[in-house]
Amino acid sequence: MKELKKIWRARKWMKSNEPFLYAWHAHVGYVHDLFDEFEEGTTVSDVANKRDMNELLLTRWADVGVAINHLKLDKDGKIHSKKHMVESISKNSDQSVGILLKEMMELHIPILLSYPDLLNSEDHASYQDEDYGGTVAATSSFIERFAFPKIHKCIKKTNAKSVIDFGAGYAGYLSRIGAKLEDMKLVGIEKNKSVCLEAEENIHFPLKSSISLYPDDMMTWQWDGDPFDVAMMNNLLYYFSPEDRFGLFEKAHEVTGEKGELIVISPIHESKHGIAFSAAFNSFMSAHDNLFPLPNRAEMVNLASETGFKLKEMKPVVKEGAWYFMRFQKA
Ligand SMILES: C[S@@+](CC[C@H](N)C(=O)[O-])C[C@H]1O[C@@H](n2cnc3c(N)ncnc32)[C@H](O)[C@@H]1O
Repeated sequence: MKELKKIWRARKWMKSNEPFLYAWHAHVGYVHDLFDEFEEGTTVSDVANKRDMNELLLTRWADVGVAINHLKLDKDGKIHSKKHMVESISKNSDQSVGILLKEMMELHIPILLSYPDLLNSEDHASYQDEDYGGTVAATSSFIERFAFPKIHKCIKKTNAKSVIDFGAGYAGYLSRIGAKLEDMKLVGIEKNKSVCLEAEENIHFPLKSSISLYPDDMMTWQWDGDPFDVAMMNNLLYYFSPEDRFGLFEKAHEVTGEKGELIVISPIHESKHGIAFSAAFNSFMSAHDNLFPLPNRAEMVNLASETGFKLKEMKPVVKEGAWYFMRFQKA
């Protein structure tokens, strides 16, 4: 009986790990454009020759793909990519979410796998912004679609005419505002120069209001123009220690007008929603010497009250990810 129980448990853990196979397979396909390569149907050996790849390993990858329905084996021995994989994973597809797999498999999972060593060590990992800045800015933008209506509502309600976005990434939020509203003054500050440059090249909406982007560190950047109506800091807090976050709020206070608003979109720890996600996020953050844990609601309220803001609104944006929209107003 005992032995059966043990085997049953082993089976349970094996099964619980099965979804990893899908992510692994899709990630390999994404990195090497393999779903494109097999889109029209071809043999593993043709692809291996063409791409100078290890044929045995490519065969194994294709076997897994057929088993999990990412690929199809035709009667003539050719392998075909399933349409949904080309559409949802290939870099060329405008529906692709492959970049999310890249972030998970290359950034998050390796850190979580190094936990046994990190637990016994004084050392931390170091987040390399030069390597992953573009990936992280791109994956953050998946939240935009859900968060933007709340930002739009705030702009309309307060009749805001100017918005500054700190840590603007690929300027997705500013682009959405600029595409919808006329006569807006839109400014973005983005520390990562290549992200800032790519943002300028990739604004994908026709704009009714133009956007000025500055490749600068928001903490040293100085503004001597008219104050802004709204400041935003979206998915930015974990780059700053809890102590340094006061400086962020002070900056927002400095550049906004008398009735200035501050919008923050961020995952929030210990909130009503997405606790597993925010806890895992914090495991990842705390393993680094240059990334910091997510704030909880009490910290946000305290940050605001210490810097002359008041929390006016806090609404979930993506519940399972603990992502919230927060609106602060100058007190
Ligand atoms: C996770 S991304 C979020 C991008 C965008 N706000 C969004 O929500 O989609 C955060 C961005 O903040 C930028 N950032 C971090 N520290 C910064 C600083 N001190 N000044 C300006 N930008 C900064 C990073 O380079 C990164 O591109």
